[in-house]
Amino acid sequence: MPECRICGGAVQRFFDFGRQPVSNAFPTPEELDREHFYRLAVGVCAACTMVQQFEEVAREQMFPGEYPYRSSGSSVMREHFERTARHFLATELGGDDPFYVEVGCNDGIMLGTVRAAGVRHLGVDPAEAATGVAAADGARVRVAFFEESTAREVRAAEGPARLIFSANTISHIAYIDSVFAGAHALLEEGGIFVFEDRYLGDIVEHASFDQIYDEHFYLFSVRSVHAMAERFGFELVDVEHLSVHGGAMRYTTARAGERTPTAAVAEWLERERTRGLAEAPVYERFAARIESNCRELTALLTKLKAEGRRVVGYGATSKSATVVNYCGIGPDLVPYVVDSTPQKQGRVTPGSHIPVRPSADFAADYPEYALLFAWNHAEEIMAKEQEFRARGGKWILYVPDVHVV
Ligand code: TMP
Ligand code: ZN
Repeated sequence: MPECRICGGAVQRFFDFGRQPVSNAFPTPEELDREHFYRLAVGVCAACTMVQQFEEVAREQMFPGEYPYRSSGSSVMREHFERTARHFLATELGGDDPFYVEVGCNDGIMLGTVRAAGVRHLGVDPAEAATGVAAADGARVRVAFFEESTAREVRAAEGPARLIFSANTISHIAYIDSVFAGAHALLEEGGIFVFEDRYLGDIVEHASFDQIYDEHFYLFSVRSVHAMAERFGFELVDVEHLSVHGGAMRYTTARAGERTPTAAVAEWLERERTRGLAEAPVYERFAARIESNCRELTALLTKLKAEGRRVVGYGATSKSATVVNYCGIGPDLVPYVVDSTPQKQGRVTPGSHIPVRPSADFAADYPEYALLFAWNHAEEIMAKEQEFRARGGKWILYVPDVHVV
C-alpha cells in the first residue's frame, strides 16, 4: 500500500479517475499531441487521515511561467481577498514594520490591498505571467516555488515575517514538509502561518468530485491539518469555515506553544468526528455518488443532443478537467466552452479538446442549455447572465447532483 506523504502511514485508495491531463495546461490546436497525462487516484491515510493523491505531477508542469489561471477573474473573490487583507491589516499587521509574505500570490488579488496600506510585503509564486500583473500594480514579488530554501533566503534578505498567508496553494504542494520547515524558519516569534483551501467536509457532503484534480494534491480537513501541523512543529490555533469556492477552511497555525488555540479548533474536530469524516463509509458513499453523478450527466447531455438541443459549457475551470475527461464529455456533446480568461481563449480544454471561446460569444449566440462548470461562482455568473434565463435558457449543474435550473 502506498505511504502517506505526511506521516508514512498506509493510504487506502477510495477512487481512481484513471488517466487525466494537467488541468490548467490548455493546449493550442498545434500542441494536441504533446499533452502530459498522469494517473489521478485519491486515498485516505489510515494514520493521520490526510486525503491525498498517489501520483505527483512535476511542479514545473502544473505551474509553468505562463500558468493561465488569474485569481482576480471573479468579483466575489476580489471582495473576499480585500476583506481578508483588511482583517489582517487591522489585527496581525499593525505595529512596528510588520512583514507580510504571501505564498501563491498569483495576480496580486490580495497583495494589492496590503501594498496600498504601505505594509512591507513579498509575494512568492512561480507563475511569472500572473505575478507580472501584481508587479505592474506595484507589488513586490519573487518568481519562485516556496520551499525551505526560498524561505531561508527571504529571511536572510528581508528579515522575519509576521504573517505568512496563502490561499488555494498549500494543498497543491506535495512536499509540504518543506513548506512548513520554511514557514518555521521565516516567521518571527509569535508570527502565524495562515492558509485557506477547499474543505474536505464540503467536498464529500456535496459530492463535488471535480475538486479532485492534479493541483489539489491534498484535500484538507481540520483533523488532518491538526495532525500535520503538530508533526511539523506547529499547532493549529484557529479555523474558520468559508463559503468561497464551494466551501473552504482557513487554518491558522503558529509554532507550537506560541499561541493559545481557540474553541473553534476543538469544535470542528468534534464535528468531523461526529460526521465520521475519517471513516470508510463516507468515502464509499462519495465514490458511489461520483459514479452516479457522472453517469447521469452524460445521459442528460446525450439525451439533449438526440433532441437537437444546443449545450455550451460556462467556465473552462481546472475542476472541469476531471468532469469532462472522467465522464467522457467531448466537443460532440459540448461544442465549446466560454471563459473570461484571455489566456485560455483560442485554446482547447486539456484532454477533452473542447474549444474555449471568449465570454462574449455566450450572449452572441445563446444556447438552450449552459453547463455551469464554474458552479462555485454560480451566484455571480447567474446575476451577470440574467438575459440568458430571460430568453428561456437553462443552467445544468452536476453538484451536489445533476439538475437543471
Ligand atoms: P475557478 O473556479 O478555479 O475560480 O475558475 C473559474 C473559471 O471561470 C476561470 O477560468 C474564469 C471563469 N469565469 C468566467 O468565465 N466568468 C465569470 O464570471 C467567472 C466568475 C469566472
Ligand atoms: Zn498520514
